[in-house]
Amino acid sequence: MTFLGCGYLGATYAICFAELGYEVLGVDVDERKIQALAAGQVPFVEPGLSELLNRNLAAGRLAFTTDYQQAADHGDVHFICVGTPQRADESASADLTYVEAAVTSLVPHLTRDALLVGKSTVPVNTTEWVAQLAAKHAPSGVQVEVAWSPEFLQEGHALEDVLRPNRLVFGVSSPAAEAALRAAHRGVFELALQDDRQVPVVVTDPATAELVKVAANAFLATKISFINAVSAVCDAAGADVTDLAKAIGLDARIGTAFLRAGVGFGGGCLPKDIRAFQARAAELGVGHELRFLHEIDGINQRRRLHVVQLAAGLLDRTSSRPTGADLTGCTVAVLGAAFKPHTDDVRDSPALAVAGMLHQHGANVVVYDPAGMDNARRVSPHLQYAPSFEDAVSDADLVCVLTAWDEFRHADPAAIAQLVAAPRVIDGMNCLDADLWRAAGWTYRGIGRQQHS
Ligand code: UDX
Repeated sequence: MTFLGCGYLGATYAICFAELGYEVLGVDVDERKIQALAAGQVPFVEPGLSELLNRNLAAGRLAFTTDYQQAADHGDVHFICVGTPQRADESASADLTYVEAAVTSLVPHLTRDALLVGKSTVPVNTTEWVAQLAAKHAPSGVQVEVAWSPEFLQEGHALEDVLRPNRLVFGVSSPAAEAALRAAHRGVFELALQDDRQVPVVVTDPATAELVKVAANAFLATKISFINAVSAVCDAAGADVTDLAKAIGLDARIGTAFLRAGVGFGGGCLPKDIRAFQARAAELGVGHELRFLHEIDGINQRRRLHVVQLAAGLLDRTSSRPTGADLTGCTVAVLGAAFKPHTDDVRDSPALAVAGMLHQHGANVVVYDPAGMDNARRVSPHLQYAPSFEDAVSDADLVCVLTAWDEFRHADPAAIAQLVAAPRVIDGMNCLDADLWRAAGWTYRGIGRQQHS
């Protein structure tokens, strides 16, 4: 099998499926990325992946190439794992350029029938379009079938999510495609049996499979924005959103997951996926039914500004500016740049966005992240970066913890208090022990936990 696209998604899948025993070829147009992977270097941070990459390279089950002819010769099943970024235009719909490029680069080289399986997150009805594209470019006599099987992996937890998925969704148009997909996941089923588990498989049509992914991400985004909106009420009323989330989550119909209030959601998926979902619904004439997702996005964006306003309040720098803050001359340590812990991914990172806003409001911002520094520097070169946690907080008027890395969660507040200019902290992910920090002399502000102040 081949995996077309070797970014976070494709490289992880290629490596994990080699680990499951398949002969895998990873394909990408980026020569540097392919050279790195072939040399045993994972070009991003994902716990455990490097070890698996090297083991499977050594075992000879895994190879990487930029050559689509080689890909066509290698595989009968080709997984499409390329990016589907948000378009820069006003529509904010998904850009399918890379999907188109992968299909039109591969298909003309095929010499036998093949199954293309989409894994990338796409607008509903993309499978139909890909099938037409493939039919147009296929050599005569070669049949290309197209199926969609969305992925649900979470960065930082990706190996487990691929090797031990909580469900598989096969969007197929024929029993033959379903059989081929079951065979392509035999290793996943066998691993589950070893653990005495079953992997639920939902077999459906391709359009439903495409929608499953965007609906799942829209639901998760809604949960997060819901609890963040409630956190604002908690702040205003003097209640505690963490106790509230625990209490409502104990209702099995609600569940505890994705009810962590904070600075909001980011990353390469949730923000762009809810916008693309709205855009596609509008194209289908039902955009009004998803209008609430616009508000989910709005709540999420306002959480970022809320941190700036909290900072202004704590530093006594509220102003008559429209945003209510003027931080000129204040030094703020921003702890965190990755969009969440256990990754170096800074795409649409709330931490980095807040750092940028603090900077715009005049603050002298110093950023530190255990893994995301290189990416952060590339995306936000105008900010200052410190080589360590200690350097970042040194002489700060305010510390903002915006990514819940263990290094920050388990830090000793008494020791850090010795380094800062003034012991003030904003816990943007509610990940610190508030009592411990207060006991060490800190003025602590969480999100939706105002009654403790
Ligand atoms: C997400 C989906 O979870 C995954 O199924 C899909 O395949 C890709 O998109 P990912 O983007 O890796 O995965 O991160 P996720 O763990 O979902 O977190 C997304 C964002 O939500 C992060 O910024 C995180 O900090 C935030 N979040 C998550 C919260 O603010 N509160 C929560 O309770 C949970």
